[in-house]
Amino acid sequence: MKYINILLIVLLINTMTNAQDKTIEAKIDALLSEMTLQEKVGQMNQYSSFFDVTGPAPAEGENKMRYEHIKTGQVGSMLNVRGAKQVREMQKLAVENSRLGIPLIFGFDVIHGHKTVSPIPLAEAASWDLEAIEKSARVAATEAAAEGLNWTFAPMVDISRDARWGRVMEGAGEDPYLGSRIAEARVRGFQGDDLTADNTIAACAKHFAAYGFAESGKDYNTADVGISTLYNVVLPPFKAAKDAGVLTFMNSFNELNGIPATGDEFLQRDLLKGEWGFDGFIVSDWGSITEMIPHGFAADGVHATEIAANAGSDMDMQSYLYIAHLEKLVEEGKVDEAKIDDAVRRILRVKYKLGLFDDPYKYCDEVREKKLIYAPEHKAAALDIAKKSIVLLKNEKNTLPLAKKRQKIALIGPLADDKTSPLGNWRLAAENNIAVSVLEGMQAYKKNKLTHEKGVNLVTEDTYFHAHVKLNTTDDKGIDAAVAAAKKADVVVMVLGEHGMQSGEGRSRANIGLPGLQQQLLEAVHAANPNIVLVLMNGRPLAIPWAAENVPAIVETWHLGIESGNAIAQVLYGDYNPSGKLPMTFPCDVGQVPIYYNYKNTGRPGPQDVVFWSHYTDQTNAPLYPFGYGLSYTTFKYNDLNINKKGNIVNVSVNVKNTGKTDGEEVVQLYIRDRVASVTRPVQELKGFEKIMLKSGESQTIQFMLTDKELGFYNNRGKFVVEPGAFDVMVGGSSAETLKGEFELE
Ligand code: BGC
Repeated sequence: MKYINILLIVLLINTMTNAQDKTIEAKIDALLSEMTLQEKVGQMNQYSSFFDVTGPAPAEGENKMRYEHIKTGQVGSMLNVRGAKQVREMQKLAVENSRLGIPLIFGFDVIHGHKTVSPIPLAEAASWDLEAIEKSARVAATEAAAEGLNWTFAPMVDISRDARWGRVMEGAGEDPYLGSRIAEARVRGFQGDDLTADNTIAACAKHFAAYGFAESGKDYNTADVGISTLYNVVLPPFKAAKDAGVLTFMNSFNELNGIPATGDEFLQRDLLKGEWGFDGFIVSDWGSITEMIPHGFAADGVHATEIAANAGSDMDMQSYLYIAHLEKLVEEGKVDEAKIDDAVRRILRVKYKLGLFDDPYKYCDEVREKKLIYAPEHKAAALDIAKKSIVLLKNEKNTLPLAKKRQKIALIGPLADDKTSPLGNWRLAAENNIAVSVLEGMQAYKKNKLTHEKGVNLVTEDTYFHAHVKLNTTDDKGIDAAVAAAKKADVVVMVLGEHGMQSGEGRSRANIGLPGLQQQLLEAVHAANPNIVLVLMNGRPLAIPWAAENVPAIVETWHLGIESGNAIAQVLYGDYNPSGKLPMTFPCDVGQVPIYYNYKNTGRPGPQDVVFWSHYTDQTNAPLYPFGYGLSYTTFKYNDLNINKKGNIVNVSVNVKNTGKTDGEEVVQLYIRDRVASVTRPVQELKGFEKIMLKSGESQTIQFMLTDKELGFYNNRGKFVVEPGAFDVMVGGSSAETLKGEFELE
């Protein structure tokens, strides 16, 4: 009976959605039939913010031109305009002046939180907590929508195996399975379950595709990716986002196998809009249509326009090319008007779905804006996910948690009192200096004696958003004071890592150790007092072999957002038991990069006595810390791995027991290996996980189900196949430590 009721509800919802869709399509038909070619092209044009909309209209120059374009229906979208009042003013320009009054859609990079900044996406991925991640996106959408925005350029779902690439901070790490689940959670969080609500915004899966495979980790660089990697590693999170209903996609700066993604017909038309049936629109990346010229793919702006429009790039972000050339290209027959109609239909569809035609100002309510920005429940959510994102990497001799009284603690390091770096990169709406620093977080524990020394400054001058970080590599005058403080302390807490602007777009690094003079500071302090807790703050995996060897406790805290210091202090003092697991492998040495857990075995996996096997002669193959790894203040024991096969469905169960004295959370991970296949498969692939809470002494049996979806793979023709044969199953609390079993698929 219950089942029938659910079925009826699902059918009803489907019928209602279909009816809604039909109404929307009919409205689009009617509108399209009224639009001039110029107005259609206008919908495909997006500008960035250009003047104070509440001030006087620009009298001359480019701003005047763009202002006029909005008034004459030649702009479909704006980015980087925010604030209920500002958005309303700009929306008015379009709605009240243009012939058809089509509302603008307002886009913005709402990447991790909005005003209430949450942890960087890589950090959130370390929580493996899909509910908390969804909540974080929900909070971000609520604040962004309250500021008049209706579209975020997130989630970035690019898989990357290269810690040199600065944008790993913005993604979910190296694994396509984890990345897919997180992509879905973020789309759900941003878009909610009612797109017409005033607190949900359109999401955008980016950057389509393979941007995270930039050669040598250098941003914007060439990506050369084989079919197997493309289909099995790069594309799955995009497909997952599409299936979760993401309304838009963004293409990408990079070329993929010789074709700039922005001009790639296979990716955009054949695959995404064709095979996958995506009915939203694709926005170019910033100026990426023009960039096809230096790529050597387009001769000039006219040519670039023709290529991008034909390839299925629906909206031009900041190249100014569609608006300049597209009409003429249609008239000349170089771009079919049906393609323009299709692009415009997609853009209008998203606007209709968001309810912008019903009320173009529905996001523009200054009272709501005031009420929702920095709402206490948003801060609470930011703190919750910040704690969950922390990964305990090492804890020898129970150095952590710290005792809460009668301790002399020296807090040392350039990031200890930093209130801006913890906000990380890509937090365009945030004010500087608003994060709780580690110093402030630790000061809340009053029964210990806390002294603070910077030791060194990480940067030599204040940096603003788009400036390059200038590192301090010479001024070591503060080291003596830090050493003196360390000598007097029972425990030293050192906060080292990357300045908030050392990762992110354009911030690739060739060296991924501790930047500036921090290694020198660490070693000097260690010589004086080795009882160190190293708190790392960074936007990418770091190569820190010396610290891993010599420092007794290491806590990875990434850039944790506005509640950073509170979250860190609660973990250091044991008020929260760390539960994060690495979403990306930490290398011992930058020379090992790209390094990832789901590698292929090769014909010479070794190890063997003679030198001729796949390895380095001067460095181990092993990572410093593997994917999925993270400690807790308690211990978990895995037992009773059971594998039960019924037809082609494999049920796996495992018993997990909290064997320590503290309650704690564990991420139970399931990996498989397809031993022999028509295309070689990785030595390990994550295919399931569950985060569970176990009280001290408690145990729980966890069940996983493997179906064709998990057991199959894409072959070298891009075809999904499930092949018979032997599989290994690995279950554990990290990719490196697992119980093992096997089964055979007929
Ligand atoms: C980035 C995109 C971003 C866009 C708009 C580009 O530089 O690659 O991810 O959404 O700018 O800010």
